Amino acid sequence: MTRGYISASFIFCMDIQASQNKEILIRRQAIEQRIHELAQEISRDYVGSALLLVGVLKGAFVFLADLIRQMTIPCEVDFVRLASYGAHTESSGNVMLIKDIEGSIENKDVLIVEDILDTGLTMTKLVEIFSQRKPMSLKVCTFLDKQGRRRVPFEADYVGFTIGNSFVVGYGLDCNEQDRSLPDVYIIKQ
Ligand code: PRP
Repeated sequence: MTRGYISASFIFCMDIQASQNKEILIRRQAIEQRIHELAQEISRDYVGSALLLVGVLKGAFVFLADLIRQMTIPCEVDFVRLASYGAHTESSGNVMLIKDIEGSIENKDVLIVEDILDTGLTMTKLVEIFSQRKPMSLKVCTFLDKQGRRRVPFEADYVGFTIGNSFVVGYGLDCNEQDRSLPDVYIIKQ
């Protein structure tokens, strides 16, 4: 992962790229099946509504692209990007919106689409920002949920897979910007 201007995690990623020590965690067939289920559930829940999906860059672009193509209702799509700045591997907690959506969300049903919920700091900040803009509804769909890593309480409305605390790459998730294109999810073995 790339969390702002980090140093320790950058070194960690350099090390694991050198060793390329990966172990498969979620296979593409399981991902495809789960996304089909999620898309059906979301399509049922939002039938007849003006739905806006907001993908969180960069990691969520693969998940969002697969999710919308399995949905059976029309929707709009936009993107945000957030970053946290700190000198350590862990998020500083100072999360900032560095790329906003283009339009208004007032009176729209908004579903934030995230690749992974980790400490919960990013989603807490984004929900706080969006809530002030008077959407009709605001929910969160995350592909992966590392529940054991929370620093603030946060529950997603839709979860693809709940996983442990291992560092994962693939299916949009990166290590120093590498491995986002892998079709399966891998654990990086330290
Ligand atoms: C990752 C991930 C989430 C966020 C989750 O983003 O994509 O957006 O961290 O972390 P949190 O729950 O601890 O706040 P990252 O900053 O690595 O950017 P990326 O998506 O561009 O890789």
